[in-house]
Amino acid sequence: MTMFKADLFKGKRFLVTGGGTGLGREMADEYAKLGAEVYICGRRGPVVEETAKELAKANNTRVTALECDIRVPDAVEDMMTRIFNEGPIDGLVNNAAGNFISRTKDLSPNGFNAIANIVFHGTFYVTLAAGKRWIEAKKKANVISILTTWVWNGGPFTVPSAMSKAGLNIMTKSLAVEWAQHGIRLNAIAPGPFPTKGAWERLNPGSIRGGTMGTQQDSSASNNPMGRVGQMQELRNLATFLMADGCDYLTGETIAIDGGAFLAGGGNFSQLSKLGDSEWEGIRQMIKGANEKDRAKRTV
Ligand code: HXC
Ligand code: NAP
Repeated sequence: MTMFKADLFKGKRFLVTGGGTGLGREMADEYAKLGAEVYICGRRGPVVEETAKELAKANNTRVTALECDIRVPDAVEDMMTRIFNEGPIDGLVNNAAGNFISRTKDLSPNGFNAIANIVFHGTFYVTLAAGKRWIEAKKKANVISILTTWVWNGGPFTVPSAMSKAGLNIMTKSLAVEWAQHGIRLNAIAPGPFPTKGAWERLNPGSIRGGTMGTQQDSSASNNPMGRVGQMQELRNLATFLMADGCDYLTGETIAIDGGAFLAGGGNFSQLSKLGDSEWEGIRQMIKGANEKDRAKRTV
């Protein structure tokens, strides 16, 4: 159920990183539905283009696709210059991320960097590029970063993601204080399981092929105190609330939306300790297949 009035974001302009797919697309769609102009970015040009076209048509608003790799500071600067040349945006959603499950002992430095360069470094580059422009323009603005509940209880088998997201949790709290005087708020959302193709191919590859790998299978729902995964509209509503005028005193907070899962101890992959070498090799191959298909669609 939508909780907000139809024109809540009329006249507002937002950037959602990774807005071509999954949760980013959902939030971009909600903002557009509520009247905002939206920018979405991602590495796969055709994916963001297609989504922008669909969201613009469905919501009768302007949605602009930008091919950008947030790991590359110059690319982020170029994107932000292009956006701000059309006028300062009112808000940024740091949603783009990379992740896969792996035993930490099997990670190479490249494997660690593949995640940390997107999540930890890339998110900072985007936040900095927007923040310094807002400060210069004396523009009141908002940042929402999409984290995970692992920032509180750790992320076995997803250590590069958990470390990077934990860093962004502290970025949120630090900049909430440093940039409060400039009218910039920073908050974060820590979703529990909201099934998306991107996440499930890399975090639950057994389940996506009928549970044959015996990894998470349906445990994201059955281990949840509410017995279910999240519904996209629930996330859309929280992302709207945090972005809206009217909660101007709320900053520096990370809000879990997970049905109570992490409080119940089910918010991470600790159950994967049972798996052996061959199962991990199978998982790696399935994730590799998904990555190769996605990489074929991008130029960077
Ligand atoms: C071990 C792996 C691996 C695996 C890749 N690597 N997959 N190591 N196990 N399963 C290693 C590779 O061997 C290589 O190291 C290095 O990582 C880089 O691999 P590439 O395939 O070249 O990476 P790249 O093309 O840059 O792709 C980045 C990516 C990919 C992060 C690996 O997954 C991606 O593009 N992801 C974007 C979308 C995404 O991940 N969405 C899910 C977000 S979900 P070597 O040493 O061999 O060179 C999420 C949900 C959290 O965060 C919460 C859920 C509840
Ligand atoms: P997703 O569909 O795979 O979304 C990730 C997006 O990030 C993709 O659109 C991807 O597009 C983009 N991206 C990745 N690397 C990028 C880069 N270097 N530059 C620009 N864009 C990049 O997965 P999702 O499930 O929706 O995840 C979205 C966010 O929610 C992530 O932050 C994730 O950690 C978080 N989250 C998800 C869940 C869940 O249950 N789904 C739970 C907790 C947190 P390209 O590949 O085209 O670049």
